[in-house]
Amino acid sequence: MKAAPVTLLIDNIGELVTNHDGDGLLGLRHDMAVLVDGERIAWVGPHAEAPAADRRIDADGAAVLPGFVDSHAHLVFAGDRAGEFAARMAGEPYTGGGIRTTVAATRAASDDDLRRRAGRLVAECLRQGTTTVEIKSGYGLSVAAEARSLRIARELTEETTFLGAHVVPAGDDPDEYVDLVRGPMLDACLAYAKWVDVFCERGAFDEDQSRAVLTAGAKHGLGLRVHANQLGVGPGVRLAVELGAASADHCTHLSGADVDALAGSATVATLLPGAEFSTRSPYPDARRLLDAGVTVALATDCNPGSSYTSSMPFCVALAVREMRMTPAEAVRAATLGGARALRRDDIGLVRPGARADLVVLDAPSHLHLAYRPGVPLIETVVHNGVPR
Ligand code: NIG
Ligand code: FE
Repeated sequence: MKAAPVTLLIDNIGELVTNHDGDGLLGLRHDMAVLVDGERIAWVGPHAEAPAADRRIDADGAAVLPGFVDSHAHLVFAGDRAGEFAARMAGEPYTGGGIRTTVAATRAASDDDLRRRAGRLVAECLRQGTTTVEIKSGYGLSVAAEARSLRIARELTEETTFLGAHVVPAGDDPDEYVDLVRGPMLDACLAYAKWVDVFCERGAFDEDQSRAVLTAGAKHGLGLRVHANQLGVGPGVRLAVELGAASADHCTHLSGADVDALAGSATVATLLPGAEFSTRSPYPDARRLLDAGVTVALATDCNPGSSYTSSMPFCVALAVREMRMTPAEAVRAATLGGARALRRDDIGLVRPGARADLVVLDAPSHLHLAYRPGVPLIETVVHNGVPR
């Protein structure tokens, strides 16, 4: 028997980020309360008018915001590459070549080991306020190993992405590998994937190869995402826009034409400042994108090579300090921006009918997420209506 929905009231909210209805970019409202019924938000209004509920969280004047939406993460893998990180900090460049190290470790791991590791990372995300996380495959790179990664990812999130086109496995012929990815590998992964992604970059997949994989995925009903323009200018962003991808991710090296293409499109630019931090690379020019009217999302890119952080607050702080985003722009990009990058309208905002995914901060304002970097400010996370 299904349990009767439980109502939960969060009241005494000093500052509520609605991303919807209120002041400024964040739709700020003050002295508010939110009523949750089951897994959905049922009511939003002044604290003084709050209805009774089965349970209550007293926010005690603190800020409340929608749960973070991390729209780009690679969480199914084994091993780590701390040594590679240390070498980079001593001056080595990042090339993506280490992906094959993680592929070898992932292939050698048991299902249970992969499941346990990915589950721990999702729990780590949740503790830091992330209530929706996208999870990519891409460290299996064989039919069976990619399908296994996505099967495990699907146990943890509905936002699963097939990234068979991450790199060409050592020793394989590139064109034969592309045929495998868009044929039998895609077929084996379809049941577990919502999205298809390609690493479109020199040293990974070129424009034609990327187009072949993306169009095959689209033909089978998958939505499109692209790792684009991370290590240099290239065709990734233009291809993402041309094919109507939900998101072009990284966007670190953009031409004027790339910015114009994004600005005139429904493709979100997902910026991943953890990758620039961790590879000691120049950050993307968020200001240029925002000023051109592009929708920007922030995500962690959590993976053992280029960005081993699961912390959206860290990415918000980096975006403000290093990418000239205002705190409001960064918080919006980390919540509503991520929702847009996943083409979801039920998350990333606080309004009746939205999913009850909320974060109560141990701080009076969203500003503190960038103002107090590295400080654990996540007091309570409500996920699917349940306080954690
Ligand atoms: O998004 N760039 C491609 N893929 C990942 C890195 C993967 C790795 O280095 O293991 C990224 O940065
Ligand atoms: Fe990535």
